[in-house]
Amino acid sequence: MSGATSLLDAIAGVGTDRRGGYSRHGFDRAEAELREWFTAEATARGLDVHTDRNGNLWAWWGEPGPDAVVTGSHLDSVPGGGAFDGPLGVASALAAVDLLRAEGFTRSRPLAVAVFAEEEGGRFGVPCLGSRLLAGTLDADTARTLRDTDGVTLAEAVKARGVAPEHLGSDPETLGRIGCFVELHVEQGRGLVDLGTPVGLASSILAHGRWRLSFSGEGNHAGATALADRRDPMLPAASLVLAARRAAASVPGARATVGRLVPTPGGTNVIPSTVDVWLDARASGDGETRHVVAEITEAAREAAEAEGCTVAVREESYTGTVTFDSTLRDELAGVLGGAPALATGAGHDAGVLAHHVPTAMLFVRNPTGVSHAPAEHAEADDCEAGVAALARVLAHLAGAPC
Ligand code: GLV
Ligand code: MN
Ligand code: MN
Repeated sequence: MSGATSLLDAIAGVGTDRRGGYSRHGFDRAEAELREWFTAEATARGLDVHTDRNGNLWAWWGEPGPDAVVTGSHLDSVPGGGAFDGPLGVASALAAVDLLRAEGFTRSRPLAVAVFAEEEGGRFGVPCLGSRLLAGTLDADTARTLRDTDGVTLAEAVKARGVAPEHLGSDPETLGRIGCFVELHVEQGRGLVDLGTPVGLASSILAHGRWRLSFSGEGNHAGATALADRRDPMLPAASLVLAARRAAASVPGARATVGRLVPTPGGTNVIPSTVDVWLDARASGDGETRHVVAEITEAAREAAEAEGCTVAVREESYTGTVTFDSTLRDELAGVLGGAPALATGAGHDAGVLAHHVPTAMLFVRNPTGVSHAPAEHAEADDCEAGVAALARVLAHLAGAPC
């Protein structure tokens, strides 16, 4: 078994979801347990662990920055997610440190393993929360008031984990220490399966964002209200779901998904008063993504009007297209003997950091091609190949400027 696989085995029982897979969300009990696990593993390796002002963890091999080589990922998951999205990058980083140590590697630059908070946005709705706050691309006042489904604010959640909410926000000192960032991640598609190779590099990430559409109508009785008398917000919500598929299908490479829809109050025999729908839309560029979202929201508005309902649209997060540093990618492809480059539609902390520092990503083959679901997988041998690749990359980078 690879070092990464053994490390993942140790956390296999944490945050299991009764529906299958894992539900580990930013600053919840499961994620806190994983933070403790990470801190213990990093400390056992002689790394110096601390939490930054946004609740991201940093395990330093050597004095913190500047010009540090940083690797890592996240420990939170989507609801009912797989075992690898996030934790594989963290476990591989620790295993790569072991490998470098075993090889007698001597650093000429500081090296750190980072764990970013709430990458999936599974609890507070904004993905890459920790890295966005760190980079100053998410306003701290807005972040503090984000609420989870139980009404707990981010400010309350971080406070419960010992992070001062008043200090959340842009952290130029920590960001300034990062000379370059490399995130290893399970591939979230079948690109490497088709290429027949265990490890690749990322070339780009689709532009992507989240929009909340809140439909309001009139709550009423499911049996006693004639169809002609209804103002049922579920109808325009259903139209939105269909419009999302239609709009995305009309733009090459675009995707639009409704994975979350909440009727209030939510009773079988109750016409809802409101329906909140969260739309995830992605496409190659800003123009294409905005076009898809505009088509969907226009269809939602028309459908709402036809049913005597209203709709309010709010953008909850947005990230433009990411093109990873091609100089760094070519350099690392050389280090890895010509690893292929793959584009992805999945968002990552690396995508946030790529706007600020030279950044690269390594992908590890996923035989199922499935992600954000329990079927997500990586074979032990491929995990081992990922660790070896990451160790080679880190050794290369920590011996020369990025
Ligand atoms: C995160 O994995 C995302 O792409 O939403
Ligand atoms: Mn994910
Ligand atoms: Mn991830």
